[in-house]
Amino acid sequence: MAYLQPDKPEKVYLPAIRAAKEKGEKLVCLTAYDYPTARIVDEAGVDIILVGDSIGNVIHGYGNTIPVSIEEIVSACIAVKRGTDRAMVVADMPYGSYHVNPDTTVQNALRLMKYGGAEAIKMEGGRNRVELVKRLVDEEIPVVAHIGLTPQSVYKMGGYRVQGRTTEQAKRLIEDAKLLEEAGAFAIVLELVPREVAAIITRELKISTIGIGAGHDCDIQVLVLHDLVGMTFGRQPRFVRPYANLREVMTKAIQTWSNDVKSGEYPNENESYGLTEETKKEMAAK
Ligand code: KIV
Repeated sequence: MAYLQPDKPEKVYLPAIRAAKEKGEKLVCLTAYDYPTARIVDEAGVDIILVGDSIGNVIHGYGNTIPVSIEEIVSACIAVKRGTDRAMVVADMPYGSYHVNPDTTVQNALRLMKYGGAEAIKMEGGRNRVELVKRLVDEEIPVVAHIGLTPQSVYKMGGYRVQGRTTEQAKRLIEDAKLLEEAGAFAIVLELVPREVAAIITRELKISTIGIGAGHDCDIQVLVLHDLVGMTFGRQPRFVRPYANLREVMTKAIQTWSNDVKSGEYPNENESYGLTEETKKEMAAK
């Protein structure tokens, strides 16, 4: 259809995610909240970019994800979408954006898609979200579900702990995952659940599981980019392997530049602009 702008041939949409599960191919997902990191993540070949509500603690310095607004996610999503060519862009529904009623939930999800450019949305919760997932999917909105540790329930849960450790809790998680699949979610985040439980869910579901702190059996692994590259403060959870220490790299670069400025080393002649010989003569003559 000539009137539609063509995507890159390898652009990731739902069929590519389904096909990867069928073939047993692992995919990767990282968060991004702005244009330059989205470009780096996309160009590095990451399959899914999540504009997570972790923007609250990672970027805005809030203590948790509760204060994040739909406007903050829409704005981040616009920037991420501009920096992304291949990866699927998934936007998080922040706390409060899907809690009032189904119509406002649809309106908020549509904002993320129409103005943010999101290609799917993610929403926390288990069986209590089944009707909402059905409604969103009915409105052509692809949904990623999210169970296990759901950070938006921090006050109810009373902290960030591994979920599904008892038989009863594990069975409940497995049931929730199945209900969300039946409701039409195309993938499900499993956050901080025992690897055995994640393995059962991954085996029993046709849709993809996206694990974070949920062991290696999940179909897709997701991490917060800033954790992966060491741009964080404080103790990291055990599932974060530090692949780089950008905080150290940045601190060194800033200190070296600062010292160079103070010692007169920076900027040098090549790092500044001069007058032409002719202009210099003219100015000297005046
Ligand atoms: O907001 C986020 O970054 C997330 C991931 C941790 C899955 O929800």
